[in-house]
Amino acid sequence: MIELDRVTRRFGAETAVAELSLRIPRGELCVLVGTSGCGKSTTLRMINRLIEHDQGQIRIDGRQVREFDEQLLRRRIGYVIQSTGLFPHWTVARNIGLVPRLLKWPRERVAARVEELMALLGLPVDTFAGKYPHQLSGGQAQRVGVARALAADPDILLMDEPFGALDPITREALQVELRALQARLHKTIVFVTHDMDEALALADRLVVMRAGRIVQQGAPLELLREPADDFVASMLGGDDRGLKEAAILRVAERMLPLSPRLLPRARVHRDATLRQALAVMFREHADRLAVVDDADMAVGELSLRRLVGSRRDE
Ligand SMILES: Nc1ncnc2c1ncn2[C@@H]1O[C@H](COP(=O)(O)OP(=O)(O)OP(=O)(O)O)[C@@H](O)[C@H]1O
Ligand SMILES: [Mg+2]
Repeated sequence: MIELDRVTRRFGAETAVAELSLRIPRGELCVLVGTSGCGKSTTLRMINRLIEHDQGQIRIDGRQVREFDEQLLRRRIGYVIQSTGLFPHWTVARNIGLVPRLLKWPRERVAARVEELMALLGLPVDTFAGKYPHQLSGGQAQRVGVARALAADPDILLMDEPFGALDPITREALQVELRALQARLHKTIVFVTHDMDEALALADRLVVMRAGRIVQQGAPLELLREPADDFVASMLGGDDRGLKEAAILRVAERMLPLSPRLLPRARVHRDATLRQALAVMFREHADRLAVVDDADMAVGELSLRRLVGSRRDE
């Protein structure tokens, strides 16, 4: 779907992106991480040609981005940035309807689409349609930014620290929404973040960059378990990596069937992460948990040994 083939971009004497090659299949959520100034935003902006590349090729569906009409390309690709980029003198509804209007959709279709997106992102139309950006909280404004990017149903979304500057609860809620949206709508998403927990929670593929190059890429678990070097290891959380791995794995994957032993009182949901299970053990001073389903029925059990993946067991 999106292919970067030895792409280079210089600013004066400085090389912001150096011979970067990356293939992002359709429907994948690819997260770029790396220290400040390593070329993440430049990489995103070369995909929708807000910045032109100097060398190499960037292709979307096999066609070079250089060959696309710039305006059409940008309408086909949703773009969300941290500061949202909303027009301050336009209402929420007008902001969201921007690209459909540019694409000359009939008025009723634009209105219906705006309502649909507001519902999707949990922004009640009655309350929010007529508000102006300065009347919104940061989280609401970011939702409007995401709605606007999705308005013309683009196949590709580029998201540059879209949830930065949000409180952890709103941020997590938006992460869950984004995953759900992606599962339902099969968008191809390139997402930049400085928050490693966010990166690990969202990524199908994680790309670690340094000084304009890719140091390592792969599934989050692969990188956590086998970082290519010390830089990747420390990017992924250093000594905290084990807990980050536990935050990706689910209780259901590690639990054992119910044994004839008395079931412990402390319990954890089967869809909880191993990290959450560990927290429950810690809080309850228990080294064994009952695993329950939605109906609070015990479906298995989880020991500390089993949780940490020890093979010597039960
Ligand atoms: N328009 C520009 N003119 C000159 N230099 C630029 C320009 N845009 C980016 N750069 C330089 O290119 C390098 C990469 O910048 P980029 O914005 O891609 O980094 P980043 O990885 O997104 O960083 P951050 O995490 O801080 O957002 C930086 O050294 C930056 O100074
Ligand atoms: Mg940036």
